[in-house]
Amino acid sequence: MISAAVEPHAEIFNLDNREALPPGFINTGKTPGSQRGQNPHKRKVLFVTSEFADLVKTGGLGDVSAALPRAMAHLHDVRVLIPGYPQVVNSDSPIHIVGELAGHAALPPCKIGRMDLPDGLVIYVLICPELYEREGTPYGDNNGRDWSDNHIRFARLGLAAADIAAGEGMIHWRPDLVHAHDWPAGLAPAYMHWRGLNTATLFTIHNLAYQGVFSRACSPELAIPEHAMQQEGMEFYGKLSFLKAGLAYSSHITTVSATYAQEITTPEFGCGLDGFLASKAQQGLLGGIPNGIDESWDSATDSHLQHNFSLNDWEGKARNTDQVRELFGLEPSEGPLFAVVSRLVYQKGLDLTLGVAEDIVRQGGQIAIIGRGEPEEEQAMRELALRHPGRIGVRIGFNETDARRMFAGSDFLLMPSRYEPCGLSQMYAQRFGSLPVARKTGGLADTIEDGVTGFLFEASTVESYRAALERAFYTYSKKDLLNAMRCLSMTQPFNWCQAVEPYARLYEELVCQAHAGAY
Ligand code: ADP
Ligand code: GLC
Repeated sequence: MISAAVEPHAEIFNLDNREALPPGFINTGKTPGSQRGQNPHKRKVLFVTSEFADLVKTGGLGDVSAALPRAMAHLHDVRVLIPGYPQVVNSDSPIHIVGELAGHAALPPCKIGRMDLPDGLVIYVLICPELYEREGTPYGDNNGRDWSDNHIRFARLGLAAADIAAGEGMIHWRPDLVHAHDWPAGLAPAYMHWRGLNTATLFTIHNLAYQGVFSRACSPELAIPEHAMQQEGMEFYGKLSFLKAGLAYSSHITTVSATYAQEITTPEFGCGLDGFLASKAQQGLLGGIPNGIDESWDSATDSHLQHNFSLNDWEGKARNTDQVRELFGLEPSEGPLFAVVSRLVYQKGLDLTLGVAEDIVRQGGQIAIIGRGEPEEEQAMRELALRHPGRIGVRIGFNETDARRMFAGSDFLLMPSRYEPCGLSQMYAQRFGSLPVARKTGGLADTIEDGVTGFLFEASTVESYRAALERAFYTYSKKDLLNAMRCLSMTQPFNWCQAVEPYARLYEELVCQAHAGAY
């Protein structure tokens, strides 16, 4: 719901005096995190992202974009900028137009809408129907084909962030720092740099493999200066890389786990950028800050679950197992239930799960799979279920409630990722007493304690995976051991507090450096 009839300075009223909100704004009287101690020197931070879990999500980026600004609200004034996809503009929260941004080169003019979520979080919505109001995901149509104008769509996002940082468009809120996430936001720091702004910028890599690489011929449409086409700029094998723009032009880079921060400086994980990233790391400009999980992940209270349960209530957990079996058309069984909750893409190593599925079934296990992704992977999963009726069930699609019920109902989560920058699913699973069987890489290595809260394997091979599964089956046969591991996994201190401190410190450092003229 978008309303255009607002006075041009409406935003000004909101800064310090929430009573003076213009008509139609929801005044909840509280800001996210308001119960905690407030920081009297709050910095203004603009989060630039292509997903936001409350409204539109394809993976963990959506979760992080929704959770981190809320977790930081007591320390900083963090607001989110997101394109106005149908899922955003048609959501229940009203949007009021608060600004207009001019077009540039082939990037059309757009409006900025403001959405105030019930908990006080402010979302700036980039309103540009010709670019964003389409049926599909943020990146492509419902058949998984990327939109052919993604370079324009996400350059517009980056330019909007730079415009807001420059104080344009009558928004009346100018960030001290712009925090851009993944390739869709990669041009935000770049446009800011080319414009000579000295506002601090932070770029977070959630997934290095998605790079937003486009033909060099797009440069004029996007107003990319000639000098950017160099190794120290956004040039990548003769093309334009939005991700590299984020890396090259931001004041600092983070990624979402300590292990992945190190891995991406090596040829195996560096996706062609390892040399560039290694040099950033040497300069102290690249670090890892692990993701957390939010408070909604509580099996005792989660409203998505029909059977809430607490620590040690294994009968309660078993009721969720029965429900998942029913949902996936699986037979009643005394054996372990394995879950897959995943994007169906190469990264997630599903071909390895195909390789061990027969063994799991032969040993009395069952598998419930939910996922959406590449058409070939979806088809392979459907065929797998057809080969094992009653033992393996598959749902192709994306469903938050099903996913949560699967974490609650499964005994084990399968996550044989080839690489995993952080991974949230393994933390959700642990919190709900499902032990991950996962490859020892990236955030999986950092958040699963082998033999204590889950099972890790080293090599990306069926043999290595199988050995970890043997240990999972053995554990399942020893109920005391299984339950002890469940207790340890459910009480792991995964939360955003651990991430908030390092981000807050980094924001402060970067803003101070910017004030000192470092950028
Ligand atoms: P990635 O971001 O690489 O997909 P993460 O583990 O960080 O991996 O985050 C995945 C998120 O998406 C989790 O919240 C997970 O529960 C969710 N998810 C993945 N696939 C599905 C699905 N088919 N249905 C519902 N939720 C899903
Ligand atoms: C990416 C990564 C995943 C990470 C998520 C959130 O999608 O693949 O490992 O957890 O972003 O940072």
